[in-house]
Amino acid sequence: MRLKIISCTVLILFIIIRTAEAEPVTLQYPPDNTVMEIDLLNISMQVPPDSADLIKARVNDKEKVNIIPDNTYECFTVPLALGSNRIDITATKKGKHVFDVTLNAFRRSDLESDYMKIPAGFKKDNFHMGDTSRCTECHILEPRETDRKPVNPTSFIAEAFDKKTVIQATSTCYSCHKKLAAAPYVHGPVAVWSCLSCHDDKSTPKYAVKRPDTEVCFGCHIEQKTDWQAKKFTHGPVTLGKCTICHSPHASMYPFNLYKATWDLCVNCHVDKGSGNHVLGDSFSTEGHPTRDKPDPVRIGKELSCASCHNPHASNYPHLWAFEAQDMFDLCRKCHFDK
Ligand code: HEC
Ligand code: HEC
Ligand code: HEC
Ligand code: HEC
Ligand code: HEC
Ligand code: HEC
Ligand code: HEC
Ligand code: HEC
Repeated sequence: MRLKIISCTVLILFIIIRTAEAEPVTLQYPPDNTVMEIDLLNISMQVPPDSADLIKARVNDKEKVNIIPDNTYECFTVPLALGSNRIDITATKKGKHVFDVTLNAFRRSDLESDYMKIPAGFKKDNFHMGDTSRCTECHILEPRETDRKPVNPTSFIAEAFDKKTVIQATSTCYSCHKKLAAAPYVHGPVAVWSCLSCHDDKSTPKYAVKRPDTEVCFGCHIEQKTDWQAKKFTHGPVTLGKCTICHSPHASMYPFNLYKATWDLCVNCHVDKGSGNHVLGDSFSTEGHPTRDKPDPVRIGKELSCASCHNPHASNYPHLWAFEAQDMFDLCRKCHFDK
């Protein structure tokens, strides 16, 4: 009898202590060793009341997130560098560590040979194919009618004071992917959150994009399609249909949504042309011809770049020249009018 009472008391005490202790912080997304094609990674954590008072995330040893949790869930987006990334997430309560995790994520790219191949052990996680029920408490996940048509630009005018509110209310994707459009040069359909114009919600995996890119891009860029396909020569990557080797489909830091400034983009693959000897130095023993840092004499207001002389997509002239020029001297005269 005595023993029973004691063990009951112990049990009750145990239960009281257990319940007084907050539920632990857990990571909900993503799994370790995931692969991304874009420079953003979504992270979502369950942070029950009183479990932590500070959450920090470091990406490759740089602090990127520092939040005081006030939800049962904390969701944030971290930037990814090309190739391997290490993400350290810590949660503390009154300065004491209550949660630590290290995640690895690989950002693949067709542009840089070092990052083309997915390293062993890494794999793509198709979030939208998995169990998303733990997110639906707060987020809508299935696309709605408003996602089928682009967010109406006239609604921007009507509510010009707050474009964000309109997008937030009409795009299902916005609540989780909002950082995708947060760069200076935003692609037309992304600016109006018309995600489904490229991502197919009926495909497997869900939201896949047709390949090669030209299948998608030429769907809207019909003028370019007609123009370029009629040309005698097309540029290597364009011939392969890989528009997104150079252009971000979403948004970027550079004009035309390019992944790099034009000159750097070209020299990324044509390394030897960045030497300073190109154009003249290749054939004549002179200092070479400038390829940047000068005003372009033809495209007024632009800087001289590789695209001043070469068309990045297609041309009827040798070496993809941007001008109607049958030979080199013809080309020179387009800019050196006096010669
Ligand atoms: C308890 C509610 C809740 C749950 C459950 C929840 N979220 Fe969130 N999530 C939010 C809120 C609120 C925001 C907006 C935060 C803000 O803008 O500051 C948000 C924003 C996000 C963002 C955007 C973060 C950013 O900084 O751009 C992502 C990504 C996200 N959630 C993913 C998820 C995923 C994945 C799940 C399921 C594993 C999930 N969320 C479950 C409440 C929740
Ligand atoms: C609850 C938050 C949430 C919402 C809402 C959401 N996504 Fe996602 N999405 C994610 C997360 C988390 C990932 C994982 C990859 C990442 O970090 O971006 C993801 C990944 C993706 C991917 C890559 C493929 C995959 O399945 O991993 C595509 C494409 C995508 N989302 C498109 C969309 C589109 C289009 C919409 C709107 C119809 C949408 N998402 C709405 C959270 C969300
Ligand atoms: C013009 C076509 C286009 C539009 C519009 C577009 N995307 Fe994409 N998206 C792509 C392509 C193509 C990729 C594959 C990555 C690449 O090639 O750069 C991609 C990749 C992604 C990924 C990463 C998938 C991965 O494999 O890592 C996410 C997440 C995503 N898109 C979400 C969205 C959301 C959300 C929207 C709406 C704002 C959107 N996209 C609008 C074409 C588009
Ligand atoms: C749903 C239709 C649609 C699709 C699909 C589409 N685009 Fe666009 N694109 C547009 C619109 C609209 C604009 C904006 C036109 C403008 O600003 O003059 C644009 C503009 C551009 C620009 C020029 C930006 C500038 O600053 O002038 C580039 C580059 C571009 N798109 C590349 C692509 C690539 C690459 C793809 C395929 C991954 C693609 N587009 C697919 C609709 C589309
Ligand atoms: C080798 C890199 C590269 C590839 C591949 C590429 N582009 Fe471009 N694109 C550029 C550059 C650079 C510019 C800006 C040229 C300039 O400065 O005038 C541009 C400009 C554009 C523009 C706006 C100006 C115009 O010519 O209409 C569109 C639209 C466009 N690209 C679409 C595409 C599409 C669609 C594809 C795939 C078929 C593609 N690009 C493939 C580099 C590339
Ligand atoms: C992703 C790599 C890549 C990028 C970026 C790239 N190129 Fe190319 N380029 C190629 C390939 C591949 C070929 C085809 C090589 C061949 O046929 O010998 C090519 C061919 C060329 C040629 C034609 C050679 C000839 O004599 O016919 C020119 C000119 C050229 N590129 C200029 C450029 C310019 C200008 C840029 C920047 C707007 C650029 N490239 C960006 C890969 C690239
Ligand atoms: C002032 C005009 C001009 C500029 C600027 C220019 N090129 Fe050229 N490019 C030419 C001419 C002319 C030729 C053909 C003669 C030759 O091979 O030198 C050529 C040929 C090429 C070829 C094909 C021949 C080969 O050697 O493979 C490539 C690739 C190329 N250029 C890339 C570039 C890149 C990359 C840039 C920017 C760094 C650039 N060009 C800037 C005029 C120019
Ligand atoms: C897209 C326009 C463009 C084309 C095409 C072009 N150049 Fe130039 N060239 C320039 C610019 C810009 C400069 C720099 C002028 C300055 O320093 O202000 C320059 C400078 C020169 C110089 C240095 C002397 C000077 O005038 O400053 C020589 C020599 C030259 N170019 C020769 C050529 C030859 C030969 C060709 C044909 C193979 C050629 N260029 C094609 C734009 C061009």
